[in-house]
Amino acid sequence: MPVRMIGTGSYVPDKLVTNEDLEKLVDTSDAWITERTGIHTRRVTGEGTAFMAVRAARRALEAAGMEAEELDMILVGTSTGDFLFPNTACQVQAALGADRAVCFDLSAACSGFLFTLNTAKVYLESGAYQTALVIGADTLSKTIDWEDRSTCVLFGDGAGAAVVRREQGSFGVGGFLMGSDGGRGGCLACPSAPVKNPWFVPREELREVLSMNGQEVFRFAVKTVPEVMEALLRQEGLEAGNIKYFILHQANERIIASVARRMKQPIEKFPMDLGQYGNTSGASIPILLDELNREGKLSEGDRLLLAGFGAGLTWGATIITW
Ligand code: UT7
Repeated sequence: MPVRMIGTGSYVPDKLVTNEDLEKLVDTSDAWITERTGIHTRRVTGEGTAFMAVRAARRALEAAGMEAEELDMILVGTSTGDFLFPNTACQVQAALGADRAVCFDLSAACSGFLFTLNTAKVYLESGAYQTALVIGADTLSKTIDWEDRSTCVLFGDGAGAAVVRREQGSFGVGGFLMGSDGGRGGCLACPSAPVKNPWFVPREELREVLSMNGQEVFRFAVKTVPEVMEALLRQEGLEAGNIKYFILHQANERIIASVARRMKQPIEKFPMDLGQYGNTSGASIPILLDELNREGKLSEGDRLLLAGFGAGLTWGATIITW
C-alpha cells in the first residue's frame, strides 16, 4: 500500500535579521551576501527547536484533518535539539498529546528531513505503523559564531512538517536514494559539549560553534546533488522533464542554479525561498514544500523531486507523486 503525504505545515520565528543588520556585526555587505548566496533576510528564534517543531506540526495535523492521538510515529530530523535528551520528537509528542506515538530524532543536518521522510516511509510500508509525523527543525543560530562572516550570513532558523500515512491509492512517496561520506565530515562541523571529567584534561579550548570549508561544501553540493537526482530518475524510469518541481535544500542560489543547468531544466522548476529565510538546515525542504502546497501550486499527480545535502557529509533525494 502506498505512503501518501496528507498534510504539511511550517513555522519560522518572527525575529528578522537583515543583511544590513549583519553589516553592523561583521565586515560584510548586502551586495556580497546577495551576489554570493541570494540571501536577503533570515529568521532567528529565541524559543528553540521544539517550540518551532510543535508549531509546524500543529499546522501539518490541521491540514491533514487529523488528531495527534492518531499518530503512530513522530520523527524529527534535527542536529540542534534543545536537549541532548529527551529528544525533540518526545518534546513534540508531549506538547501535542500524541500519546500513542513512538518518537525519535534523526541527525543528518541539512539532509535531516529527507532522511526522516524516507525512514518513516519504510516503517509504514512494512506495515509496522500506519501514520507518521515527520519534521525537519533546526536552530542553527545557536551554533553560529556571530563574528565569523564566512558562516553567520548563511543560516536561519525554522521548522517544517508533514503527515504521511499508508493508505489505498496508486501513488505517494516514491523511490529514494541516500548517501553519506563520514570521511569528509570535517568540512562542516559543530562540536557538542567537550568531555569534562576528573579523569581527562578538560578541552576548554574547544569552542562549540559551527565551522565550515564553504568551497569544499559548495563543490560537493554541485557535483553530488545532480548525480543523486539523475541516479534516482534512472532508478524510477523517469526523466527530468517528468518532474514538475525540484525542491532542493535551500543553501545557496548559485548551487541551485548550477544544479538546474546540469539537469538542463528551467530555473522556474526550482522554487526558492532562501532569499527570505537563509539556510534553515533540516527545515528548508519541508518549509518550501509547505509554501508551495499552501500557495495551491501542487496538484494531484504532480511529480516532485526533493533533494538535500549537508554535514556528515550526507545527501539524499526522494520522488513524491502528489
Ligand atoms: O547546508 C549546507 C551548508 N553549506 C553550504 O551549502 C555552503 C556552500 N558554500 C557556499 O555557499 C559558498 O562557498 C559561500 C557562500 C560560503 C562562500 O562563497 P564563495 O564564493 O565560495 O566565497 P569564498 O569562500 O571563496 O570567499 C571569497 C572572498 C574571501 O575573501 P578573499 O580571500 O578573496 O579576500 C572571503 O574572505 O569573500 C570573503 N568573504 C566575505 N566577504 C564579505 C567570505 N564571507 C564573506 C562575507 N562578506 N560574509
